[in-house]
Amino acid sequence: MNTARPDQVPDEPLTTDGGEGWSEDMELAPVHPRDQAAGPAEERQGERLQKVLARAGVASRRVCEDMIEQGRISVNGAVVTVQGMRVDPLRDRIAVDGARLELRDDRVTYALNKPAGVITAMSDDRARPTVGDMVGDLAPGLVHVGRLDQDTEGLLLITNDGELAHRLAHPSYEVRKTYLAQVSGSVPRDLARRLRAGIELDDGPVAVDSFTVVDTHAGQSVVEVVLHEGRKHIVRRLLAEVGLPVSRLTRTSVGPVSLQRMRVGSIRRLTRQEVGALKELVGL
Ligand code: URA
Repeated sequence: MNTARPDQVPDEPLTTDGGEGWSEDMELAPVHPRDQAAGPAEERQGERLQKVLARAGVASRRVCEDMIEQGRISVNGAVVTVQGMRVDPLRDRIAVDGARLELRDDRVTYALNKPAGVITAMSDDRARPTVGDMVGDLAPGLVHVGRLDQDTEGLLLITNDGELAHRLAHPSYEVRKTYLAQVSGSVPRDLARRLRAGIELDDGPVAVDSFTVVDTHAGQSVVEVVLHEGRKHIVRRLLAEVGLPVSRLTRTSVGPVSLQRMRVGSIRRLTRQEVGALKELVGL
């Protein structure tokens, strides 16, 4: 269930088309019939009715708004004619022209510990091994969130929640990712400062959020890099630029989700808390 607070980014896709016909301000949303006796905290929960209707395939959101206005939609037996009501798609009885809608939330998100050598694609016409082969038919409509290079291992999120995938991968949300890189060469003392200040690459500057040397041994180091960039080969290019070519790269976290103790090649479904934290991060 969506538990977005009114002060968070609204749960509409990022468009600038405005003209929604009602206020984004939850304080102005009509009270749900089930909540009429409930306190203010409960009134604020749920997803917008027209969004739930649209996702269930009733019609586009705009047409669903018209249907609400025409008194064709009821929630828990009460006809709703005002826009902006919040509903719980899994608990509320929503009916269109008197016929109850079957609503299931079948959105799922998985963490995959991608092995090196596997390409980030759901299928491949050249028969190379893909992450799609690894997730198989766990759920329909799965997509990968962003990409890891073929040689990079580690955390890749896979979901059938299109809006979540889109926002997590979109640069404007600046989702932080953490990488462990094995590099050759010695790490200069002032490198963390230089990397935080920003390094110029062919396609523009990049700055890290943090840089730490985890281990150094026999001319090799393991470094941790945190950055909120999604450009191609960004970690490898950045470290090569400062004289530290990467021999092994592993992504260990994406936003609040981390690999934990997942074995290479394993898949786990994210917990409700993890999905909630990801959604909150991107305003869903
Ligand atoms: N940066 C890289 O260089 N490669 C990846 O796979 C991810 C980030």
